[in-house]
Amino acid sequence: MKSITVNISESKTNYSIFIGSDFIGDKLAQYEKEGAYFIIDSRVASFYKNIIPKERVFLFQASEKNKTLLSLEKMLDFLRQNDALRDSTLVAVGGGITGDVAAFAASVYMRGIKLIQVPTTLLAMVDSSVGGKTAVNFKGIKNNIGTFYQPGMVLIDSHFLDSLTDKEYLNGLAESIKIAAVRDKEFFEYIAANKTSILKRSKAIMEYIIAVSCRLKAEIVEQDEKESGIRKLLNFGHTVAHGIESDSNHKIHHGFAVALGMIYESKYALKKGYIDKDTYDAIYGLLKSLKYPTHYEPKDIDKMLEALSKDKKAGKNGISLALSGKNMQGVIINNIKSKELIDLFL
Ligand SMILES: NC(=O)c1ccc[n+]([C@@H]2O[C@H](COP(=O)([O-])OP(=O)(O)OC[C@H]3O[C@@H](n4cnc5c(N)ncnc54)[C@H](O)[C@@H]3O)[C@@H](O)[C@H]2O)c1
Repeated sequence: MKSITVNISESKTNYSIFIGSDFIGDKLAQYEKEGAYFIIDSRVASFYKNIIPKERVFLFQASEKNKTLLSLEKMLDFLRQNDALRDSTLVAVGGGITGDVAAFAASVYMRGIKLIQVPTTLLAMVDSSVGGKTAVNFKGIKNNIGTFYQPGMVLIDSHFLDSLTDKEYLNGLAESIKIAAVRDKEFFEYIAANKTSILKRSKAIMEYIIAVSCRLKAEIVEQDEKESGIRKLLNFGHTVAHGIESDSNHKIHHGFAVALGMIYESKYALKKGYIDKDTYDAIYGLLKSLKYPTHYEPKDIDKMLEALSKDKKAGKNGISLALSGKNMQGVIINNIKSKELIDLFL
């Protein structure tokens, strides 16, 4: 079992992330005995019936459509109706959507109860379960409302990877590639060297990849919990991805849009001299070899321009972009005109 400790001085919290395989059944049984409350992705519950608790369980159908204030209210009502108290523990079992909404509920129920994250998608394991951002979508705006609330613990069992579709698996892997490309060249090269085992879902390799991704994210969050500086590096690939998702009416899955975003943003970085050709080729080559899309034909340039200009990273003087940099130490570049990014597609 691997473990990582996260120390966040800004909110005076620290917690551990444990990564291993086939240990989660015993842990969930222990929490059930201790009277914990569970919010569980209904799809996960159907796949893992033998280890899912029976008492004090709220089954949640995870989708962006259900990532709403109404779902948050239902979760809070579940806690209230089942007499959860200030010292109760809420265990969130599921992907990023379940984790984000359940964590929001834990953060506001009685002004905050203990939260344990049990991420079951690769994306949630390497990214969303660590860092304390909670959210729901509001009036059509993704993650428009939320809180910062760090979990008390994160338990990652690689057993959950077995039932993910290839699409969900690659969706999460894109986030590991992203963090490697802006923080750790050696880790990037490790992913590239082990891509065959990664595609075969080797437990040993994946537990290492999850552990390094969590450690790298933890190091960033420890320095900048509220995303006023270095945490913005985690947006590498996401600004252009946002434009592509909007242009494609969200037909392109997030991780695939992020892969395209990393490629087009790296084209920009190469053009402006933030990275050299070898770095560009390494990023492009790895994504291509893992069968992510590498080329995107915009359908409506104006719609894409508008999405880029309205991106959360956009200010009145232009867009902020997180890019890979020299030796894959990421950089944040401000005041980029969205037109300059669109030109990369033409
Ligand atoms: N809080 C953060 O810092 C942060 C960071 C990145 C993304 N996010 C959020 O995460 C969300 C995306 O998370 P996601 O990609 O995990 O999506 P998700 O939670 O919708 O899960 C994807 C799909 O996989 C299913 N699933 C979950 N675990 C499974 C398993 N083990 N086997 C089979 N199927 C399983 C789910 O039911 C769902 O259908 C977005 O809403 C995004 O905003 C949050």
